[in-house]
Amino acid sequence: MKWHQLSPSDANDMKGVPLPRARPSPRRRIWIPVAVSFIAITVLWAYLYPPQDYTYPVRDWFPSEPARELTDEETAARVVFRQILSTPPFPSRNPKIAFMFLTPGKLPFEKLWELFFKGHEGRYTIYVHASREKPEHISPVFVDREIHSDKVGWGMISMVDAERRLLAKALEDIDNQQFVLLSDSCVPLHNFDYVYDFLMGSKHSFLDCFDDPGPHGVFRYSKNMLPEVRETEFRKGSQWFSIKRQHAMVVIADSLYYSKFRRFCKPGMEEGRNCYADEHYLPTLFHMMDPAGIANWSVTYVDWSEGKWHPRSFRAKDVTYELLKNMTSIDVSSHITSDEKKELLQRPCLWNGLKRPCYLFARKFYPEALNNLMNLFSNYTIF
Ligand SMILES: *[C@@H]1O[C@H](CO)[C@@H](O)[C@H](O)[C@H]1NC(C)=O
Ligand SMILES: *[C@@H]1O[C@H](CO)[C@@H](O)[C@H](O)[C@H]1NC(C)=O
Ligand SMILES: *[C@@H]1O[C@H](CO)[C@@H](O)[C@H](O)[C@H]1NC(C)=O
Repeated sequence: MKWHQLSPSDANDMKGVPLPRARPSPRRRIWIPVAVSFIAITVLWAYLYPPQDYTYPVRDWFPSEPARELTDEETAARVVFRQILSTPPFPSRNPKIAFMFLTPGKLPFEKLWELFFKGHEGRYTIYVHASREKPEHISPVFVDREIHSDKVGWGMISMVDAERRLLAKALEDIDNQQFVLLSDSCVPLHNFDYVYDFLMGSKHSFLDCFDDPGPHGVFRYSKNMLPEVRETEFRKGSQWFSIKRQHAMVVIADSLYYSKFRRFCKPGMEEGRNCYADEHYLPTLFHMMDPAGIANWSVTYVDWSEGKWHPRSFRAKDVTYELLKNMTSIDVSSHITSDEKKELLQRPCLWNGLKRPCYLFARKFYPEALNNLMNLFSNYTIF
């Protein structure tokens, strides 16, 4: 059908006025391309700038389903995780970051952290889990921030218990949106605004996770974890995480996978296996339940290059502007496998798909490094 058949001139025809079939009037000839371009622009605009909540509603998320019938506990756990992960957090008018310090006692860098927090009141909350003794505080921002705590054994499940205790306490505050775990030997590498924008703006949680086929990785796995945790799903990663509210909820809600690790991942197991729950539980849980939701690297820098059992600790004389700049310029995350191949696994640090420097915090520093760090702080944290 030609468009002008329904035009007024056709109506005139029907009245029997013998008019030649009219071409569209000049006015109508302008009207068409204008309408077409208007529609095209509208469609293009909607495509380029979708409404803000376009990406939000329930995301299509399923944990990878193993090819077997799930146990009742697994079905229940998965449905709870799915609900938590697909529900956007309660919108907060005052979003805050929870800084959770896991320490035996004293926090040697309180003064440095005070400098970091200064002027940002209301945008952070501090929690301290002091497992050996209640620390004397040097800085007022840390006073009365201890939570109920218990003993923590190195590499024992009590380490995970302390992390869960901190998360539960920090989740009580509805404004806390990001949950950063820090140790007494951690220091900030950037200023507060940079850290706040980096964490709040990220779609992912910063949880370290990789597949280590060697003795410090998959060898620590025990078949007793079957059927819920298979060897191919066993992962490793640093315990120093920074996670979103939904992921913190998942950690608190999990009892099934947690109890598997409590029973079967500990030092001195059968066949000389030494498993450390704090290095395997969360990486494995999130690898199974929300692999696309984690960045697979930690925002806390540590130097394993000496290849020893413990990472390098920095002394006062090591702390220079150059050292700190080096740490803040790294934009590739590296893991070395513990098998004979000692394979170097490297990936760019992608922040919402954009390559950026990886680290916001660093460890480990000796308490004697405090003065140098304080002197350099305003210089190295300009960005
Ligand atoms: C993290 O690693 C998993 C594979 O273990 C991958 O599926 C996921 O996409 C990675 N996360 C990001 C943000 O790239
Ligand atoms: C900083 O990095 C450069 C290049 O990787 C290296 O040569 C230098 O020794 C590093 N400096 C410090 C203080 O770590
Ligand atoms: C502070 O930073 C500048 C570069 O921005 C550098 O030249 C200077 O040496 C630094 N000061 C100290 C005390 O490191």
